[in-house]
Amino acid sequence: MINISKYLSDLITDSVQAEFEEFKEKFVINSEKDKPWQYSTPTAIKLWNMNKNMTSSYPFIKSCKELAERISELIPTTGMIESVAISKAGKGPDEKSGYFINIYLSTSAMAQKLQELVTTDITYQTEKKLKVVVDFSSPNIAKNLHVGHLRTTILGDSMARLLEFMGHDVKRVNHIGDWGTQFGMLIAHMQDKYPDFLDQQPEISDLDGFYKEAKKRFDKEEDFKTRSRETVVKLQGGDQEILEGWKMIVNVSRVQFDKIYKRLDIVNNEYGESFYNDMIPPLVQKLEEDGIVVEDDGCKCIFIPKIKVPLIVVKSDGGYNYDTTDLAAMKYRIEVEKAERIIVLTDMGQNFHFKQVEGACIKAGILDPKTTKFDHMCFGLILDENGERFRSSSGESVQLVSLLDEAKERATELCKMKHENASEEIKLTEEEYQERGEIIGLASLKYYDLKQNRSSSYVFSYDRILDSKGDTGVYLLYMYVRLCSILRKGGYDEERLAEVAKETELILETPEEIKLGLLLLRLPEYLDGVMNDLQLNMLCSILYEVSTQVGSFYANNKVLGDPKEASRILLIEITRKVMKTLFELLGMKTLEQI
Ligand code: ARG
Repeated sequence: MINISKYLSDLITDSVQAEFEEFKEKFVINSEKDKPWQYSTPTAIKLWNMNKNMTSSYPFIKSCKELAERISELIPTTGMIESVAISKAGKGPDEKSGYFINIYLSTSAMAQKLQELVTTDITYQTEKKLKVVVDFSSPNIAKNLHVGHLRTTILGDSMARLLEFMGHDVKRVNHIGDWGTQFGMLIAHMQDKYPDFLDQQPEISDLDGFYKEAKKRFDKEEDFKTRSRETVVKLQGGDQEILEGWKMIVNVSRVQFDKIYKRLDIVNNEYGESFYNDMIPPLVQKLEEDGIVVEDDGCKCIFIPKIKVPLIVVKSDGGYNYDTTDLAAMKYRIEVEKAERIIVLTDMGQNFHFKQVEGACIKAGILDPKTTKFDHMCFGLILDENGERFRSSSGESVQLVSLLDEAKERATELCKMKHENASEEIKLTEEEYQERGEIIGLASLKYYDLKQNRSSSYVFSYDRILDSKGDTGVYLLYMYVRLCSILRKGGYDEERLAEVAKETELILETPEEIKLGLLLLRLPEYLDGVMNDLQLNMLCSILYEVSTQVGSFYANNKVLGDPKEASRILLIEITRKVMKTLFELLGMKTLEQI
């Protein structure tokens, strides 16, 4: 596919520059909703304001109107463009007013572009393939995934999917918290509770519980606290027995994380904090030699321009911390992985941390914003109905697995209810209902998260998530199923559709057809938009718009049994494919029947 607004911008800019060489300005193209023209540009106004004295070289142009008129003449009305017209901005006198240039697309060119999509995959490739690191999910070991990990996991996966779809070389990184002081107490507790842990696998599958036991002792028993600290030092020193214990704990966590990732259909590669461990001492040494790291109040820090609080690289006890690891990770990603874009997902709480890390890396010459774009893709919290952090009845963070289970359970009920009055032959087995529930429940949970404005917190509500009306995953999946069922009813399988595409010309005629057709063609504009601002909710917006638009299309335009059936079926099929593409980008599985 092509990005129409970009195509128009390039075309118009080139055509205009052929006559007005000094106009270096790129034409801005806005898409227009509910106007007879589909696109417009305000750039003639800007050019006029910047070049009012152009009369010497172009004596015939004495107003913005005349400039806009001349530009309109220069725009070729072939291919995608049917016609061009100008319209006045505001109510002033003609010669003093600014003028927009409006662009009318050719519906037959639009239809032709759509027709190509019936028999080819929906693709949209970037012009410049980049190496991108997406650091997401990244839970801390020894604690289960909880509600706080939902957003980073879902948004990060979707971002990675989009980058991959557009042809970038993506490295999905799970920066798990597998290193740090908490391992001291965990391993010390393991030594006490399972003295033969090296020979006999200890029973620590309830790692959350095990963590709590260790923490309780750490807070109460002085001896244990001291031993825990010594154990950390031994771990960092590479003590074999301690390292074995560490590996066991990390493994148990990993198995538990992986179960959830599998359910959520998420792939990522583990590069935990420990991975950067050996890179830290030489990095710190080098930064000290370069005078970037300096002593302050017993710590070693990096002072960053315009930020008051320095980044602490070495704590007063000589240990490294979360900040130090992120410096090393940035260096590794840029110098070894050759990342040209780095996107890290965490909640807003870490904004300041990443401002510091980014600033410190620029100062240290690790990050050059001209060659590597760094984004902290941060997001708000998940709240309960009272606006408090979403917690379980016992006051703890809700486990992610119980969130998924409940979404599945409720969606399964929904499917059963839908079939309550149905004939016996369409009823399913319990197992089949469970499978559908899993797909609908998890897809809806993901959609609800993705559709939010990323920077705001949102209120979690199963009722809203699984509402079958409105902008929800359930509604969208139903719409998708409806399209599949129209195709099925008409006997249009892949083969037949290919034949129809060959024999029939897709025609966009009615207002609903034109509106839907244009929306589908605008997919690349949305994808490029997300690349810039990382607002994945725009993908949800277009998916929802497509769904409501196709709904109004088939409500007002008869499809099966109409003389225009073949053309309309093609439009349904392309809509289905675009929707499927969007579902995939959002990490949502689909069904063909409900
Ligand atoms: N483990 C961290 C946490 O749970 C998130 C890590 C994000 N990535 C990073 N490179 N710091 O808060």
